[in-house]
Amino acid sequence: MKAVAIDLSHPIFLHVSQAAARLGIDVYVVGGYVRDQLLGRPCKDIDFVTVAPASAHQQHGMELARLTASLIHQDLQVNYFKNFGTAQFRWEGLDLEFVGARKESYMRHSRKPIVENGTLRDDQNRRDFTINALAVSLNSASYGQLIDPFGGLGDLEKKIIRTPLNPDLTFSDDPLRMMRAIRFATQLGFTIHPETFEAIKRNRERIQIVSQERITDELNKIILAPKPSSGFLLLEESGLLRIIFPELQALKGVENYEGKGHKDNFYHTLQVLDNITKVSQDLWLRWAALLHDIAKPQTKKFVEGIGWTFHSHEILGSKMVPKIFARMKLPMGQEMRFVRKLVYLHLRPIALTKEEITDSALRRLLFEAGDDLESLLSLCEADITSKNREKVKRYLIKFEQVRERLKEVEEKDRIRNFQPPITGEIIMQYFGIKPGKEVGVIKEEIKDAILDGKIRNDYDEAFQLMIELGKKLGLKKSDQA
Ligand code: CTP
Repeated sequence: MKAVAIDLSHPIFLHVSQAAARLGIDVYVVGGYVRDQLLGRPCKDIDFVTVAPASAHQQHGMELARLTASLIHQDLQVNYFKNFGTAQFRWEGLDLEFVGARKESYMRHSRKPIVENGTLRDDQNRRDFTINALAVSLNSASYGQLIDPFGGLGDLEKKIIRTPLNPDLTFSDDPLRMMRAIRFATQLGFTIHPETFEAIKRNRERIQIVSQERITDELNKIILAPKPSSGFLLLEESGLLRIIFPELQALKGVENYEGKGHKDNFYHTLQVLDNITKVSQDLWLRWAALLHDIAKPQTKKFVEGIGWTFHSHEILGSKMVPKIFARMKLPMGQEMRFVRKLVYLHLRPIALTKEEITDSALRRLLFEAGDDLESLLSLCEADITSKNREKVKRYLIKFEQVRERLKEVEEKDRIRNFQPPITGEIIMQYFGIKPGKEVGVIKEEIKDAILDGKIRNDYDEAFQLMIELGKKLGLKKSDQA
């Protein structure tokens, strides 16, 4: 046992300790809170494990929660999860969870009944990683002492993710832990111990028994990490990526034809994801980076005299977004629509650096991107990944010019959230017609005329154009108009 500096100054620890003493049971802080304290990371979730004699009945975790809560405040609401033998309450922004030590697999959401009271060691054995199996005593004889049977403290110092027991056993208890290993390695910048990593490779197929929601949760945490590429490289190397995200796996590899290769779109995508991570914390913008080239394998073609092309990959890619989101159980509302839109538009700003930039092209981009313009521009900048530094620099300078011009045009024409001044209602009323093809044609032409700068974004000019367009279509002013 070692004495280490875990901050137990918060009054909750004394309350829990006193309540346990009254009940005649032992209690320890365990898991993520201890790990995060030692790493100096903020943590608002505290897990308490109780240990009682084998003869005691099995609800002591719940009893401790009840007594602790009543010591703090009479009206504190405790939530009991009888099936899991756990209890939880919130206090001062902390999420406090209480559970009796168990012999069987430690699984917070396991549906298995708790059969027997376990010792602290039993409980630690069944946790996922050595760094998550650290416990701190809250019992008077050893208050504040760290109980570290698997060298978790050493692994924290050496930055290693390793299972406490034989990894095959730990992963078979809960195969999601294979993804948790990669997620912790990515979040903390740790390496996975070779034996643990080999076991992930061996057991990878078992990930298929885990619910998609839990897998996606881990995937999102990897995407939100400071350097998500390292997580995706581990997912690929372990063989998990092929199973959970085949579309991303398919980006890997380079084909050669007549000595000409294209860039490896897997590594390119990861670079774009890392680039965007430096400028944005937004999960969905990061998803857009991950998916921006997702349809490249399906659209790849070698064209004589030109080389490799990926024609329309942005269109097919945007069509793949809802399918991937649905399968991943990601939100299908505005988040999905945002990602789909960015994938669809991701070539547009770069295309503008290649040609003489006309105001009309800029207006169209402003109109289509709307409020997501800044995100789109960030994605496009992140997409510039050539190894040739000079080339990157040249592109970034041109890109800056596009940004400037977009700003000018927006200030001048206010296109960004523009609604064409002539509505379908006005058209129908003026010509006395019912909804139909003509209404759509007139609306579209008015919008195009504004975006192309032929008329100003102004009611009178648009109304005049509506009359002319109607004439061409053989429409006349209605008597009621
Ligand atoms: N745990 C486990 N196996 C799992 C999930 C959790 O052994 N599949 C154990 C670990 O000891 C972990 C503790 O339960 O530290 C708490 O789990 P959880 O709150 O999910 O994770 P944290 O480690 O706190 O980390 P995070 O909040 O980042 O998920």
